[in-house]
Amino acid sequence: MANQIPEEVIEEVRKSNDIVDVIGEYVQLKKQGRNFFGLCPFHGEKTPSFSVSQEKQIFHCFGCGKGGNAITFLMEMESYSFIETIKYLANRSGINLPDIGSERESPLSKENQNILSAYEWLTKLYHHLIRFTKEGKEGLHYLKDRGISEQAIDDFQLGFAPNSKIFTAEFLKQKGFNQALLVQSGLLSLQNDNSVTDRFRGRIIFPIRNHLGKTIAFGGRLISEGEPKYLNSAESELFQKGKVLYNFDLAKKHIRRENEVILFEGYMDVISAYQAGINNVIATLGTALTDYQAKLLNRYVDTVVICYDGDRAGLEATYKAANLLRKVGCQVKISNLRENLDPDSFIKAYGGKAFKKEIIDTSDTYISFYMRYRKKDFNLSLEGDRIQYIEDVIKEISLINSSVEREYYLKDLHKEYNISMESLNEEVEAQRNKQGYYHKKDNTDKNRNTNRAASYRSNHNLLPAYQNAERKLLSYMIQDSFIADKVQEEIGAGFNIDAHKILATHLYAFYEEGHSSDVSLFIEKLEDHDLKKLVTEIAMLPFSDEISDKEINDYIRMIQAQKNDYVNIQSLKEQQRVAEQQKDPIKAAQIAMQIIELKKQIKGTT
Ligand code: UTP
Ligand code: MN
Repeated sequence: MANQIPEEVIEEVRKSNDIVDVIGEYVQLKKQGRNFFGLCPFHGEKTPSFSVSQEKQIFHCFGCGKGGNAITFLMEMESYSFIETIKYLANRSGINLPDIGSERESPLSKENQNILSAYEWLTKLYHHLIRFTKEGKEGLHYLKDRGISEQAIDDFQLGFAPNSKIFTAEFLKQKGFNQALLVQSGLLSLQNDNSVTDRFRGRIIFPIRNHLGKTIAFGGRLISEGEPKYLNSAESELFQKGKVLYNFDLAKKHIRRENEVILFEGYMDVISAYQAGINNVIATLGTALTDYQAKLLNRYVDTVVICYDGDRAGLEATYKAANLLRKVGCQVKISNLRENLDPDSFIKAYGGKAFKKEIIDTSDTYISFYMRYRKKDFNLSLEGDRIQYIEDVIKEISLINSSVEREYYLKDLHKEYNISMESLNEEVEAQRNKQGYYHKKDNTDKNRNTNRAASYRSNHNLLPAYQNAERKLLSYMIQDSFIADKVQEEIGAGFNIDAHKILATHLYAFYEEGHSSDVSLFIEKLEDHDLKKLVTEIAMLPFSDEISDKEINDYIRMIQAQKNDYVNIQSLKEQQRVAEQQKDPIKAAQIAMQIIELKKQIKGTT
């Protein structure tokens, strides 16, 4: 790949960005043995088969086969070019890159780059207005009134768009932006007479940033009564509401640290909480949580606390979001805000500490929430309704795998409705029988997890012995140039599997260029995609530090034996053919028996 960054600098950049940290910004990784595991960001999955090795600085997904180092991960994940990835990583680790010219290979179209640049200018302009000028005064008063600090205004780059028809249009025109493009991106509105006007007027501006911190849209709130209260940028290629979460970029590291995220409905809820010191907070953009967003969250955290408004609409939205999150594998908790309070007003009235303690830390489990939620559909003072309600709740309870947990909720019902524990238990048993639970194994995620890991191993054990030997041997050769030397001397590229031959050849060349063992760099140098995959897969094989010469020799012998067997069988087949030609059926049959015998022997060693 052509690039103007010197090799040593790329090396330095690679070395100063640990793969676990880099990938950790996208995937929640848990240490299991020597490696880290998480949900693969490249294909949908519920049980982790994505593994990262810190020692080797590589990742590999046993599910979809993707693999590589930190650089290839980012290129894949962010659709960055190689240069962009190096720039990003250099910036991340505080390395100054030599000037590599203004030439940028970006995956974004020229139009989209221009739109991003317009958003960047406007974010700065609106923010400047609200902080320092009289044009922004009314916006500043509004935010101050709502208890928003200057620090928060800065952190969120809040701004104010003056109530003028062409303030923004003029500003962007002066900067040389193409007006048609600005209309198309929803920053300006086209009038009937074909003139353009500002879209955001007299509104507080909430820049909506993507996960990299770049503004891709605005939310604008009126500072006085009126409709619509909030106006968002129109959807575009760059901005899809269902794929963004407000404040995700700032919240990311806190979410990771707490292994919990608080999901709000409104921008103001996020800002209030954030300035009150609760930082693992995000919000959807005025639409229901989408499958995309739920899956994204599931890659980062175990637990999502849903904290929507305490009104009717909030309750319905909570029910939907909770089920979506559960479906993708998140644990959910549901905060219980009193009627007609929203998180922002609670925090304003009682402070962040109280919010954390009384609302977040005491959130309901899904079942407790469900009990509360379902009540709205029944008149519990009527016996018939009450029975239906209880049956409905029991159905939900019977889906829980842990008997201790089931018992806990049943006790609740027992106390509240004065029904004996026996009948409640009976009902649950009946439900569980109906659902066929007693024939299933306990399928908790953890169990599936370890089963999965075990099954990779056993899968590989199903490979013929010589093939396993080749993989093992290659894995040692990748970790240790001395072993590679020895193997090169003894069998060269004489592996039986073609892909292994190719791999070995590349590896010998890599060491001959004077590199020492470095899987991540080795992958870097390979161009073939399938080969990269194979290397990461093999390099992820369990590796023991102390490998004996004997073990190496055994592998080599196994590989050679397979080769000999192959040669022998080929030559027997040839003899058989000759015997048939010479019309000597007895000899041909004897040779056929020999072949079968030999094949049996080979099988026996697998
Ligand atoms: P809310 O009406 O709950 O707003 O809508 P809020 O967060 O409490 O705002 P304040 O406190 O009145 O300022 C929640 C979210 O729904 C979207 C916005 O994203 C808002 O943050 N929304 C709301 C719109 O997109 N348009 C609207 O007209 C209203
Ligand atoms: Mn609200």
